[in-house]
Amino acid sequence: MTVPLVGVAASLALVAPPGVAAASPALGGPPHGQPAAKVPVAEGYGGAVSTVDLDASKAALSVLKRGGNAMDAAVAAAATLGVTEPYSAGLAGGGFLVYYDARRGKVISIDGREKAPQAMTETSFQENGAAIPFADAVTSGLSAGVPGSVAQWELALRRYGTFSLKQALQPAVDVASNGFTVDQTFYDQTAQNADRFAAFTSTAALYLPNGAPPPVGSVFRNPDLAATYRELGRRGGEWLYGGRLGEEVIATVKRPPVKPGSTRVVRPGLMELSDLRAYRALERPPTKVGYGPMEVYGMAPPSSGGSTVGEALKILQALPKVGLHEYLEASRLAFADRNKFVGDPAYVDVPLKELLSDGFAKERACLIGDVAMPNPAAPGSPDGSYAGCQFEGTAVPNGDPAPAKGAEGQAEKPEGPETTHLAVTDRWGNVAAYNITIEQTGGNGIVVPGRGFLLNNELTDFTFGPAPGDPNLPAPGKRPRSSMAPTIVLKHGRPLLAIGSPGGATIITTVLQILVNRYEFGMSLPDAVAAPRASQRNAAATQAEQAFIDRYGAELTARGHTLTLVPGPPVGEIGAATGLEFLGKGKVQAVAEPSRRGGGSALVVTPARP
Ligand code: GLY
Repeated sequence: MTVPLVGVAASLALVAPPGVAAASPALGGPPHGQPAAKVPVAEGYGGAVSTVDLDASKAALSVLKRGGNAMDAAVAAAATLGVTEPYSAGLAGGGFLVYYDARRGKVISIDGREKAPQAMTETSFQENGAAIPFADAVTSGLSAGVPGSVAQWELALRRYGTFSLKQALQPAVDVASNGFTVDQTFYDQTAQNADRFAAFTSTAALYLPNGAPPPVGSVFRNPDLAATYRELGRRGGEWLYGGRLGEEVIATVKRPPVKPGSTRVVRPGLMELSDLRAYRALERPPTKVGYGPMEVYGMAPPSSGGSTVGEALKILQALPKVGLHEYLEASRLAFADRNKFVGDPAYVDVPLKELLSDGFAKERACLIGDVAMPNPAAPGSPDGSYAGCQFEGTAVPNGDPAPAKGAEGQAEKPEGPETTHLAVTDRWGNVAAYNITIEQTGGNGIVVPGRGFLLNNELTDFTFGPAPGDPNLPAPGKRPRSSMAPTIVLKHGRPLLAIGSPGGATIITTVLQILVNRYEFGMSLPDAVAAPRASQRNAAATQAEQAFIDRYGAELTARGHTLTLVPGPPVGEIGAATGLEFLGKGKVQAVAEPSRRGGGSALVVTPARP
C-alpha cells in the first residue's frame, strides 16, 4: 500500500489555532482571561521541549535557560503538568523515563511505576468470583497504587540532574500560586469527571468551584498544591514516603472523603504507611532493538511499551514491504505476545530477549499475508527455536534525519486519552522522553484534602481476573503492566528522535505508527505526528480516527480489516504525541500535536544558531 503524503503536510497547523491568543499569567504572559498561545512545531538550538501544555513547556525552558539540564527540565515540566494537567499527571502518580546521557553516550531508563500494596492479592478486584465493575474500581481507594513520581524525580535528579528537588519544583509552585488560564481541554476533562468529582468533598471544593467546572478563560489557582510542592521541596520525598504527607495519603485512601448523602459506592484502599516506606524508583536497562541503521530504545517491563513497539518494528523489518496493512498486522501480533508474556519482571519470567529477537520476529512475520489474519491472533512461542519462511528481500528503513521525499479471554479495558508525555533536550545533548500518569483522566477522582492533588487509580491497569496464568494479575508489591512507551532513537550512537504519547494501550500503536510514518513512509516528524491514526491491539476491529477511515478505509477493508471510530471522549482522537528530532549541527525540531487534545506546545531555547 502506498501512503499518500499529500494533504498531511497541508493539515499541519504551524500557528496557534483560532481563538487561542495569550500566554499564561504565571510565567509572565499576556493578560488573564484568554487561553494561552501554543505552537506545535519549533526549531532551534541550545535545548528544546515539547509537552501538551504551554506552562509546562515554559517551565522546562526556564530551567534550561537557567543552566539546568534535560533531566532538571523534565522534572520541572512534569511537576508543572501536575498543576495544569492534573487529571493526567501529579505527585501521587507514576511514570517511565527514558534518558540519553550525553556524557556517557548511554541510554538509561527510570521506572517510577506505582506498586500494589502488600495487602493486595490476585482476587482483590473480584467479588463473588467475578471481576468488580471497572468503573467502580476506578473511583475507589482500592485502585490507588503506591505513588512513584516523587521517588522517581529524586532518583533522576540525584543521578542525572543538577537541580535540587526544591529548585526543580519551583516553576510548578509559581504556576500553582499565580494560576493558569483554563483552556477547553481542562474544562472538558473537568466536565467529563464532574459527576464523580462531586462525590468527594475535597475534589468538589478544588475542581468544581461554585459547583461547576471552572470556565474557559478563567484563571485557576491551586494554593494547596503550591504549598504541598513547597513543603515537598523543603522536606524531600521522605515527607511522602513515611512522613506526614504519607499519613494523609493513607487516610484518604482508607477513608475517602465521600460527600455526606452521596450514594456512590467507594471501596476503601489497602495501602499502609509501610507500603510508602518500602517504595523505590528503579533504574532499569531500557529495551533496545536495531531498526535499519538506528537503535530504538524503550521502556522495559513492567511497561509493555518498549517490548511491544520493539517487537512490531522487528516484525516489520522481516517483511518484504511495509504499508498500513503490515503496520496493523505487526501490531496485532505484538499485542498477542504482550498480553501473554509481559508483566512485572519481579513476579513474571518475561522472555524479553526472545520477544525482541530476529528469529522470533521472522517467525511472527511469516503469519502476515495479503489479508488481515483471523482474530484473535494467538501468542507466539518465544522459546529460541524458530521456523522461518521465505520472503523476497526485506524492508529496511534508512533513518534519514532529513525530511524524506516520500490477555487472552479478558475484555480489554476502555482506553481513553489518559496520561501525558514530554520530551526535552539541552545544550549538552542530553535527551529525556518521559511518560507520566495517574491512569484514568482524573485518576481515582479523590483529592487528598488540603493538599491540592488527586490520587492515582493505577492498579486498575492490572488484569482483574479470574484469569489463570495471566502475567498481569495483582500480587502484593507488584507493579501493574503499563503501555507507556517513551522512546529514544539513536543513529550511529547519537540521538535522532524522541517520541511518546498518552492514550492507554493506544500509546504503543501511536508511537509505532509515528515511527512507521517517519521511517517507512518518509514523512517529516510534524507530518508523522499529525497524520490520522489507527490502533490494532489484537481485536476484531481496528480503532481509527475518522480521517484515517476516510483516507484508507476502503483499501484496508478490501484487505479484510474492520475499522471502527475510536470511542471518546474526546470522540475520535487517538493519542497526543510529543517529540523531538535532531536535525544535525545542533539543530533540534520540537514537535507536538497541531490539534489533538487542544494541541501541544513546542519551544526552543533559541531559534537562531548561537
Ligand atoms: N496507565 C496507563 C499505562 O500505564 O499504560
